Amino acid sequence: MNAKKLAAEKAVEKIEDHMVVGLGTGSTASHAINKIGERIKQGLVIKAVATSVASEKLALEVNIPLLPLAAIESVDIAIDGADEVDARGNLIKGGGGALLREKIVAFASRRFIVVVDQSKLTDTLGSFPLPVEIVPFAPALALKQLRALGCEPSIRKKEGKEFVTDNGNLIIDCRFARIEDPASLDTAIKKIPGVVETGLFLNTMVSEVIVGYENGETVTR
Ligand code: 5RP
Repeated sequence: MNAKKLAAEKAVEKIEDHMVVGLGTGSTASHAINKIGERIKQGLVIKAVATSVASEKLALEVNIPLLPLAAIESVDIAIDGADEVDARGNLIKGGGGALLREKIVAFASRRFIVVVDQSKLTDTLGSFPLPVEIVPFAPALALKQLRALGCEPSIRKKEGKEFVTDNGNLIIDCRFARIEDPASLDTAIKKIPGVVETGLFLNTMVSEVIVGYENGETVTR
């Protein structure tokens, strides 16, 4: 059983006609996008907003009608994956580099559903390096300030070059030993000039987490 697909498809069951739906980014969110495409073929009427260029492309391939992010004031349901989910429902996101638009859409959503397989669950965040999106002007200063918060930061690279986000920014991946207090860390990182957003999604933003298991079960937390 594909546990990511199971969780994603369970979340798609919650979508109703005439909703505005936020489409996440990543392999789990892609399963949701494909399933929404199937439901549209069967008559579901929705509009959607994508959180990345990649998700937009996939959504267009499966004939999901899209609204530009600029036209959105609120979203009924957003469905997105995560890199880590702690015992209190806080998340690390941004492994795919889409954290800024993902957070804008999640924050605007009446219901933000996180879909993961069991491997993403942890007691305390921090095994996955925390992605932080920064403007590209002064990365060395941002690295220094982030290091002062107790992590080992590195600029994300892809195929030997700096990874550039859909927004033209850079990502710094921050290796913390453990993130005991995500809310305080989020606040501290955002005080650094040049930081655009962090990959910490606090549990106050999360409506539910659907976990898929390889034995075919899903559990909603
Ligand atoms: C992208 C994300 C993804 O949701 C996260 O990386 C999980 O990806 P996947 O579903 O492929 O495991 O935050 O920025």
